Amino acid sequence: MATRFLSSLKAAVKESGIFPSYLARKRAAARFLRGSGLEIGELHFPLQVPSGVTVKYVDYVSREENIRKFPELDAASIVPTDYVEDGFTLASIPDCSQDFVIANHVLEHASNPLQVLSNWARGLRPGGTLFITVPIGSRCFDKGRPLTPLQHFIDDYELVRDGNPQSLDEKNRLHYREWLTISTPNSDARNRHYRNLSGEELESLVETMSAGKAEIHFHVFSRESFVTLLDYFTTCIRSDFSVKAVIRSRGGAESLAILERSPQAGR
Ligand SMILES: C[S@@+](CC[C@H](N)C(=O)[O-])C[C@H]1O[C@@H](n2cnc3c(N)ncnc32)[C@H](O)[C@@H]1O
Repeated sequence: MATRFLSSLKAAVKESGIFPSYLARKRAAARFLRGSGLEIGELHFPLQVPSGVTVKYVDYVSREENIRKFPELDAASIVPTDYVEDGFTLASIPDCSQDFVIANHVLEHASNPLQVLSNWARGLRPGGTLFITVPIGSRCFDKGRPLTPLQHFIDDYELVRDGNPQSLDEKNRLHYREWLTISTPNSDARNRHYRNLSGEELESLVETMSAGKAEIHFHVFSRESFVTLLDYFTTCIRSDFSVKAVIRSRGGAESLAILERSPQAGR
């Protein structure tokens, strides 16, 4: 009961945008979003967009499944999913069909972020906008995990591109270990003992998560490392995109980036 009340209070505060922390997202939406597009992983907190802008919601699970997955959230605040599909591939979305793609606190859940950025870019019309926020590792439950270096992202991307997805699965075990021994104990007092798991216990949990392709924060960002990733993407993978803005948001606990596809692209 008390948890429900706190959760709806939190949602109401987020919705109002009265704290500067959430104003950055709202202001950037007003400045950069026009037309119609997608939001991936909106869950209980869809981006507030200006009037006249239309958004369809994409999650790999339905609203009902999200209600079951997140009992701590107020069910009424969880948004119905328009497209139940993998938002990292957007397979049902035609090329060049969207004015924008929004992804707030989603990219860190991707095991191959450069490929995911490419998949989102594919759906955008010339002049289209990518609106992305990531949590800053040192300001969330990932505190204590190493930042992911650029070369790691490039290796992930090239392994899959060159037909070695098993090697990526192998690399992901490292992330499962960090998640279990650092992120999970940081975020959940009941799992503090994970810090002291024996090697065997830890490997057994890693095995289970890896086999089930469990969703975690695979990668950890600082503002600078996020910008470095986006610069690589716009220089080496999609040079028809540019980084229009990188904005400090939620008091520095997240970084918000706006990427634009050149209006002249494809002409
Ligand atoms: C941390 S929540 C983000 C909630 C909200 N956007 C926010 O800003 O607080 C991550 C969301 O991304 C969704 N998600 C993770 N991986 C996904 C994928 N491959 N395809 C679609 N949605 C995904 C999860 O189901 C969840 O709803």
